[in-house]
Amino acid sequence: MNSKILKSGHIKLYKRENSQYWQMKLKLPKLKSIRSSTGSKILKEAEIIAIKYYSTLRKKTNININRKKNIFKKIHLVETSDLKKKEIEHILYESKKYISYNKKRNKKINILEGRTIFNLFFEDSTRTRTSFEVAAKRLGADLINVVVKDSSINKGETLLDTMTTINSMNPDILIIRHPEDGISKRISKSVEASVINAGDGSHEHPTQALLDALTIKNKFNNFSKLKIAICGDILHSRVARSNIIILSKLGAKINVIGPKEWLPKNINKLPVEVFTDMKIGLKNCDIVMMLRIQKERIVDKIMPNQKTYFKKYGLDYNKLKYAKKNAFVMHPGPMNRGIEIESTLADDITRSLIQEQVAMGVAVRMACLDLIIRNRDNFVNN
Ligand code: CP
Repeated sequence: MNSKILKSGHIKLYKRENSQYWQMKLKLPKLKSIRSSTGSKILKEAEIIAIKYYSTLRKKTNININRKKNIFKKIHLVETSDLKKKEIEHILYESKKYISYNKKRNKKINILEGRTIFNLFFEDSTRTRTSFEVAAKRLGADLINVVVKDSSINKGETLLDTMTTINSMNPDILIIRHPEDGISKRISKSVEASVINAGDGSHEHPTQALLDALTIKNKFNNFSKLKIAICGDILHSRVARSNIIILSKLGAKINVIGPKEWLPKNINKLPVEVFTDMKIGLKNCDIVMMLRIQKERIVDKIMPNQKTYFKKYGLDYNKLKYAKKNAFVMHPGPMNRGIEIESTLADDITRSLIQEQVAMGVAVRMACLDLIIRNRDNFVNN
């Protein structure tokens, strides 16, 4: 076999004895090598084709994949309570790289080519499900959306049997949203795949809190001088719980504000100050994070009158004045306009970070998928 190395470790040409055509073997940093025919019988021509193809691939995957030493070493992301400050900072650092990348014309980087990821959403979702799908596809992985309403769960199959069945297809990651608290953690103990919690009951929503932290970091960089208000239905909100944990670990001070009946009994055990009055609770806050009223979890209790709720706890320009002069507004979505937040304020891009949160969701989820898969690779190889 004839061969010629054009760039050591990266571009090699070779011609098999039974072929007239030059083949190329291209190896980009951090990616699997690619073999293809140059389509040419002439070495000089094949050299030009291989170099051109290599540089096109390089441009396509032109993302800074120089990585800091990996500090986040987990193979599951099921709760924020077991994340150390350094791990959170590392995920945010990795996520930041994808922000500009996601604005490029060509958003594809095949660092997760050949990997299989399942979206298993047993509750409704727009942002989380689609942003995991976008994230996985941009990284080159195969993502399968399991349509739960059409699945064999409806024929009486247990959740664990469904997970075991999907696990037998050798997936790398299962992304699970489910109404039961703690279910992602339990599943992570019974499958070989990695598990990402995309929201479990009123318990946790780790990637939401990470994307919220990234949104805030983009505006303020440092968390240690920040006061953040989390307002509304604290009791039923997994977003509130994960944000309290993540943002306080990063050094921010947290005020929670909501009706007394929607404050968890153990709220005083969390690193927060508690208020029932927006006027007092919003004082000196840099960020006002509104929450959705979790109607689906308030089945046996009386829902407040929407007008009365908005008057006391809905965020409008008047209440926003209680916070710092240029305070920003956040909402994880989906939002109930005119109940949790005034519609014009939600759309005011000078104050509202709501659409920015959605964009950061893709970046954070790309980082989480990549980090977890790299950790799995190391785990399996070691
Ligand atoms: N914030 C959030 O979890 O939104 P979805 O329910 O649309 O995923």
